[in-house]
Amino acid sequence: MKLSNNTILITGGGSGIGLAFAEKFLELGNDVLICGRDQQKLDAAQARHPGLKTFRCDLTHPDDTAVMVEKIKSDFPALNMLINNAGIQYNYRFDDGADHATKIDHEINANFSSHLRLTDALLPLLTAKKVAAVVNISSALSIVPKESAPVYCATKAGVHIFSRALRYQLERSPVKVFEVVPALVDTAMTAGRGKGKMSPAALVAEAIKGIEHDKFYIRIGKTKLLFAIHRLFPFLAGKIIRKG
Ligand SMILES: NC(=O)c1ccc[n+]([C@@H]2O[C@H](COP(=O)([O-])OP(=O)(O)OC[C@H]3O[C@@H](n4cnc5c(N)ncnc54)[C@H](OP(=O)(O)O)[C@@H]3O)[C@@H](O)[C@H]2O)c1
Repeated sequence: MKLSNNTILITGGGSGIGLAFAEKFLELGNDVLICGRDQQKLDAAQARHPGLKTFRCDLTHPDDTAVMVEKIKSDFPALNMLINNAGIQYNYRFDDGADHATKIDHEINANFSSHLRLTDALLPLLTAKKVAAVVNISSALSIVPKESAPVYCATKAGVHIFSRALRYQLERSPVKVFEVVPALVDTAMTAGRGKGKMSPAALVAEAIKGIEHDKFYIRIGKTKLLFAIHRLFPFLAGKIIRKG
């Protein structure tokens, strides 16, 4: 996949990993659109990078998403890459006696269902191009879960298996389906926890090398080692990540 002259939508592009993707793809000569819920974050990103186009959009609200999709179809019909990056993580125990229904639905929507709906809505634009891509951001927790975030881990496992099946469906189309599997990255999501985190820019540098070389399952940094341990000693991998 070429890394320049694309038109790219990055969900959750106002901060963290999404913003690092946006900055790198701008630098490489692409049109970059980002979306998020927080207008202040979007404005701050645009102030630093005037070339960015921004959409305020809560992806968990299908009506919001529909408005953004229509705007993209009318104003940015050249769109040929979608990076499904937006996400949240709740940490809680199922056995703490509280009612978690709202959190469960919201996390599944934000991390999983909303990506599927957006991909589905933008696919007609993507399949009409000579070359196009869907890039899904999953997690090492898609393979080895941690105890404190069972729904998050399940949504990432969903992203992983969805990416594989979608790749089958689109293999005869111009749309390449990538999955990026980050290790622990230093962003708002991981604030106050974890050690040895990589920077969002370092993650993006590795990810775009994979995208450039049509490597569809891109394991980043320490995830490569973790996956090797998981293949040989699944119990050990589980032990390493469980309390993460
Ligand atoms: N950091 C890590 O160690 C790590 C590891 C593995 C995977 N990941 C994945 O990487 C992705 C990016 O996370 P991050 O670490 O960069 O965290 P982050 O800085 O908190 O970024 C998450 C982004 O998602 C956006 N977002 C959340 N809910 C949204 C919604 N309903 N609608 C639209 N945008 C929404 C947020 O923007 P608003 O607040 O403006 O909505 C924010 O820009 C996530 O999918 C995460 O699961 C992260």
